[in-house]
Amino acid sequence: MTLISVDGDDSDERLAERVAAQRAKPGFALDGHFYRSRRVYRKELDEILYKSWLYAGHVSQIANPGDYFLYDLGEDSIIIARGQDGAVRALMNICRHRGARVCEAAQGHRTSFVCPYHGWTYNLDGSLKAARAMAVKPGFEPARYGLKTARCIVYEGLIFVNANPEAADFEAALRTIEPALRPYGLPSAKIAHRQIYTVEANWKLVLENYQECYHCATAHRAYAKLHTIERPESEVKDITASMLERAERQTGVPGITHAHYQAYGASRGFGTCVYTSRYALYDGYRTGSEGGQPVAPLMGEFKGYDGGAGDFQIGPLAFMLNYPDHCVLYRFTPRSPTRTDMELVWFVRGDAEEGRDYDREAVTWLWDRTTKEDEYIISRNSAGVNSRFFEPGPYHPEFESLCLEFVDWYLGALE
Ligand code: FES
Ligand SMILES: [Fe+2]
Repeated sequence: MTLISVDGDDSDERLAERVAAQRAKPGFALDGHFYRSRRVYRKELDEILYKSWLYAGHVSQIANPGDYFLYDLGEDSIIIARGQDGAVRALMNICRHRGARVCEAAQGHRTSFVCPYHGWTYNLDGSLKAARAMAVKPGFEPARYGLKTARCIVYEGLIFVNANPEAADFEAALRTIEPALRPYGLPSAKIAHRQIYTVEANWKLVLENYQECYHCATAHRAYAKLHTIERPESEVKDITASMLERAERQTGVPGITHAHYQAYGASRGFGTCVYTSRYALYDGYRTGSEGGQPVAPLMGEFKGYDGGAGDFQIGPLAFMLNYPDHCVLYRFTPRSPTRTDMELVWFVRGDAEEGRDYDREAVTWLWDRTTKEDEYIISRNSAGVNSRFFEPGPYHPEFESLCLEFVDWYLGALE
């Protein structure tokens, strides 16, 4: 895609001027410059992506020592590996000799990582095990040449990384949503399906699309039939109130209605966004499936259906929508100024067997369909904002309130 408007001037001065102009017009969508400029993109990687807590994967992907998978973001690659000691680590996939990618296969099992270029060999914890023939170099200290690492934590079976050594404590933030998240039993859950949908659009368009349900009624007919969030709060408050009133009783989970909001500017520390609330499905529907009826055994501690779904944000670029019988995780990963990976992960109960307890098609039907609809509207959005004639309009004050908070936080990070 050509990036017309910034070809002439993509300087820091132009960026500062665009940020100031955006600040002067609160409530309005972002100027096209933010979606097209390579300088903006690089700054976003430095100031946002590599300083935020990002979902990398689930513990079941690396169940045994020696198991690993790659997490690709921006132009980088991170090896998420389980060591002989059982610990999960995030290693930068860049050889300490001359910088080749140490590992190419997206996932697998290794006893060590051997660089394909000159054969330097690294242990699963990233330390340099052997540097072929380097003994002839006087003073060469292998201990100084381990793979660089990123911060890495495992919480409720979910692995998060942060490339900033000074990153704010994420576990403290995560504990605030624990009463609502823990009941799903994610540490022992099973990934029923995982899929990357690559969208030809800037990552902010993809994120903004997830943050608002103003488009749900027009773009997502199947979703809107089930989920009350497609309408303004005032119109569905009775449905929500009766779901909240019966939720604990019908799910058998104390604290399932726990709500907490500390996202973007309200976060405890940069890149530690957490959010949860429970919202209602329309009467008669029990889960997010084609007919709104269960498609898998109940998750974790759940004993029944309340006609509600748990809505979560976990870090600035990951979200979950958790039904009593399955959970759906969304992760947005910038890959270039105009390309973004939307990854969806469907979790079911750990002991559920495909074909016996659930049908993969039935579990994934709603969100595969909804995500393909999103892919289409976001790519149309991208085409429009990349035009020289694009002039941003106002966000909807309620439906698009999260976008407003995101934009405010985003501009702050660029400033
Ligand atoms: S670049 Fe890896 S061994 Fe030379
Ligand atoms: Fe959508």
